[in-house]
Amino acid sequence: MTIVGLGVPAVRRPDPGADRAHPRHASGDLVDTHGRTARDLRVSLTDRCNLRCHYCMPPEGLPWMERTAQLGDDEVVRLVTVAVRDLGVREVRFTGGEPLLRKGLEDIVAATAALRTPAGDPVRTSLTTNGIGLARRAEGLARAGLRRVNVSLDTLDARRFAAITRRDRLDDVLAGARAAQEAGLAPVKVNAVLLRGTNDDEAPALLRWALREGYRLRFIEQMPLDPHGTWQRSDMITGEEILGALGAAFTLTPQPDGSRGAAPAETWAVDDGAGLSGTVGVIASVTRPFCGDCDRTRLTADGQVRTCLFSTGETDLRDRMRAGASDAELAATWRAAMWGKLPGHDIDDPGFLHPTRPMSSIGG
Ligand code: 5AD
Ligand code: SF4
Repeated sequence: MTIVGLGVPAVRRPDPGADRAHPRHASGDLVDTHGRTARDLRVSLTDRCNLRCHYCMPPEGLPWMERTAQLGDDEVVRLVTVAVRDLGVREVRFTGGEPLLRKGLEDIVAATAALRTPAGDPVRTSLTTNGIGLARRAEGLARAGLRRVNVSLDTLDARRFAAITRRDRLDDVLAGARAAQEAGLAPVKVNAVLLRGTNDDEAPALLRWALREGYRLRFIEQMPLDPHGTWQRSDMITGEEILGALGAAFTLTPQPDGSRGAAPAETWAVDDGAGLSGTVGVIASVTRPFCGDCDRTRLTADGQVRTCLFSTGETDLRDRMRAGASDAELAATWRAAMWGKLPGHDIDDPGFLHPTRPMSSIGG
């Protein structure tokens, strides 16, 4: 399958089904017509990145967003506040591109951590990062109120790391993960994507390393979000293949059903029979989609609501905000967008359309 549409600037189309003016959107949580409620907000803080992972970006990078197009720190905080105070969001994850490239990150985290849900609970905060520069910032982020980090790391071999990311920075990532753990941003989760012919023999080694370090490793199936639109299902290392590889080195015991909930990872207890044990997660977004339990809503760095990673449309909050919309109006627009959330991503459907933005601009 060839997928077209990546690399082109985002086309602004309203989400199908978003019906804006209806009184049903005047109050309440982010519900949709398929019975789901979004509680987990992913905020992309920049589309830039200091790595160039093959499955995400071309070597020269992408046409970056204009600074003025990007939400300012105050604008991000205002929208996150509306989400937590008025829309039932309980968890906020900051992503990118690479969110550590955002200068105001600590201030945004501090303002978010100070928010309370209507029930008076603190909002859970986390960061998805490639780990570069985290060694220097982990403590400050913890002080600002960040709770946890997810570090992306696909290999423990420096040469492979440089081949996958086109940068020789493995040691920075390892130092970043360690610093996060020492700063109490725990449990540190490590996200790994296996690529056929590159690092697909590394699942057991990655798991041994994560267990020894005390990190929670999750393998993610590669999704069709690559810059050239050349993703092929047959290239993807499936969850089943990953479990097969792990099963050769560990005894795997599925965690009870229901441990998954809205969390996309299916979890297995693992034991190598020689004293090393813990858990591993597999996020089989393609072969075992979890869309029916999805509790996410997304905000891009330029202030567009996306109901799904794979949405082909989005709903503008930035221009409305800049034109003077009230918090109540912004909340109603966000509710209307989520009301139109489609049931699933349909990657397996022949009519599947590639999202109009690359992953780095949507936020992982
Ligand atoms: N499929 C799956 N995961 C991806 N990531 C980036 N692109 C893809 C893709 N096409 C991962 C990164 C990181 C997280 C933000 O998303 O490896 O772990
Ligand atoms: Fe950067 Fe993440 Fe994309 Fe790699 S996958 S280039 S770390 S945004």
